[in-house]
Amino acid sequence: MQIVRTVAETRAALRALRSKGLTVGLVPTMGALHAGHLSLVRAAREQCEAVVVSIFVNPTQFGPNEDFSKYPRTFDTDGKLLEEEKVDVLFAPGVDEMYPSGSTTFVTVEEIGDRLDGASRPGHFRGVATVVAKLFHIIEPDKAYFGQKDAAQIAVLRRMVRDLNFPLELIACPTVREPDGLAMSSRNRYLSSEDRTHALTLSKTLFHTEQRIAAGTFTARTLIDDAVAALAAKPHIRLDYFRIIDPDTLVDIENVRNGALIAVAAFVGTTRLIDNLLTAPR
Ligand code: PAF
Repeated sequence: MQIVRTVAETRAALRALRSKGLTVGLVPTMGALHAGHLSLVRAAREQCEAVVVSIFVNPTQFGPNEDFSKYPRTFDTDGKLLEEEKVDVLFAPGVDEMYPSGSTTFVTVEEIGDRLDGASRPGHFRGVATVVAKLFHIIEPDKAYFGQKDAAQIAVLRRMVRDLNFPLELIACPTVREPDGLAMSSRNRYLSSEDRTHALTLSKTLFHTEQRIAAGTFTARTLIDDAVAALAAKPHIRLDYFRIIDPDTLVDIENVRNGALIAVAAFVGTTRLIDNLLTAPR
């Protein structure tokens, strides 16, 4: 695995791969890798001839009071995991390489970018869209892989790819869960063992809502009210949102018969967690 730190080195590494006619899959990450990330790398490995992973804790997607400085940075362990997955190139730039001083150009995906996590975390998706657009320009992948756990991020990036004519396919891979249902997340590392138990309420509420849909409750308002009441009754959970929405536009829907995204975000202790389920049409 070639580890590259600069845009110029990365472009040279990619030119070498392309000169052999290889298709390129990109897995953008912020590191602190877990089984969810590795599932993206494996999907890229199966579908592409060369795999590039980026590790960059992107400052522009964190709000002023968020966890940028304490975000877990585990580069050595991450590197070993990626070697084992036979990744071809690991791009791990510093902040100055990605945002040279005086950088003032950003990508804003209007409307969708202000919904869901974009509403709770103003500017978050501007930071995500900007850094991902930069990665797409630097690496020029044929396919790029993202986890379904970040459902709003996928909607925002799909729109960006479409609107800005990026010549690539964006692939959403299923959320990877712990055996007890907790969605894997780098932020799970912040949870105490008690918090971790409380955090299970999020996936349990999603699965319970899905069961109710399967049993014939299709009115989103009813499902939301019941889920919010259940979550509000838990003293260790501070709910941000529980929504039932269209997965492409992130707009609320009234009836779930045609399929829907059920999405939740909540603080468990001081840790903000998100999770979601995509339901099939009935
Ligand atoms: O999903 C993430 O880890 C980040 O938002 C991403 C896509 C790597 C951009 O920094």
